[in-house]
Amino acid sequence: MNYNIAVINGDGIGAEITPQAIKVLEVIGEKFNHSFKFNHVLMGGCAIDETGIPLPRETIDTCLNSDSVLLGAVGGPKWDNVPGHMRPEAGLLNLRAAMKLYANLRPARLFGALKNACPLRTDIAEKGIDMVFVRELTGGIYFGERGRRNTQSGVEAFDTECYSELEIERIARVAFEIATVRNKKVTSIDKANVLESSRLWREVVHKTAESFPEIEVGDMLVDNAAMQLVKNPSQFDVVLASNMFGDILSDESAMITGSIGMLASASLGDTKRNSSESKGHPLIVGLYEPIHGSAPDIAGMDKANPISAILSAAMMLKYSFGLNNESAAIETAVDKVLQNGVRTLDIKDGGTSNTVGTKQMGELICDAI
Ligand code: IPM
Ligand code: MG
Repeated sequence: MNYNIAVINGDGIGAEITPQAIKVLEVIGEKFNHSFKFNHVLMGGCAIDETGIPLPRETIDTCLNSDSVLLGAVGGPKWDNVPGHMRPEAGLLNLRAAMKLYANLRPARLFGALKNACPLRTDIAEKGIDMVFVRELTGGIYFGERGRRNTQSGVEAFDTECYSELEIERIARVAFEIATVRNKKVTSIDKANVLESSRLWREVVHKTAESFPEIEVGDMLVDNAAMQLVKNPSQFDVVLASNMFGDILSDESAMITGSIGMLASASLGDTKRNSSESKGHPLIVGLYEPIHGSAPDIAGMDKANPISAILSAAMMLKYSFGLNNESAAIETAVDKVLQNGVRTLDIKDGGTSNTVGTKQMGELICDAI
């Protein structure tokens, strides 16, 4: 089977970790007899440097015409002073919107081998951490009206959080569907004691829950959720959150599962492509990226952890292409390499482990496959 994958290395460590994910996909292709074709396109700071804008039309077109998109990371201090709508991050937000990717799945699991990298007390870590964030990705304060205006007391700036029933319902549905094949528990995050948008969020989540009677659904205020994540993370299974709350809490969940260099994500919408070759599984077009940023401080030094990018490729195989065995083969290989004591610099577990660079970590995972 042939798959067309658009690749956006992006900025900083993106250019180092994405090639490792490609290497892994090539090994999977050989082993399982698939052909992955990679089309490289520009987005983010490097696109600004090359074309003057963060998201060139050609990139949007290539992504829309591909079976899925693999992305590294965007941004860096070099572009900190460009106007907001021209920043590298604006390219990413506009691509998510152009591809209508409203559902962002971010699994956070503490790998057995990384127990000591968890900064929480042992008795808390031992209960296990295994959850998935379902983050709304094309609405809320990220996409609401924003601007600056002059007032009598000087300039003021505003950003608006706005959610429609439709936007809330479709992301809630994704969370409930995922919970159906997991532990049947959804915790919905909001700030309903203050925000009107959160009160609508809560109402719609509960209305949507009526179609999923087997799922236990609970609400949690975002400030409490930030606390519960470090106090008792084993209580969470599926965590449903708005764009901004999901952004913030998923970084926290990355830290408690060992390192932000480990966490992958899938961004999905409703775009399906029927392929004559795909044996009944429609290709679900998605964008796959690490949850971390471009880490400019370590860019180009072969220090970055490629596992988040590699696990993002594994998510692509599973969610977009229905290649569950192939996806599991990657996850097993990552597990094995970690079990063997191999680490990158970001994983601080105080052990006498064997620390390797970006490329070598990629190679070891390929060998394990
Ligand atoms: C993420 C990132 C992005 C976001 C930035 C780079 C725009 O933090 O994917 O979590 O906030 O969505
Ligand atoms: Mg983030």
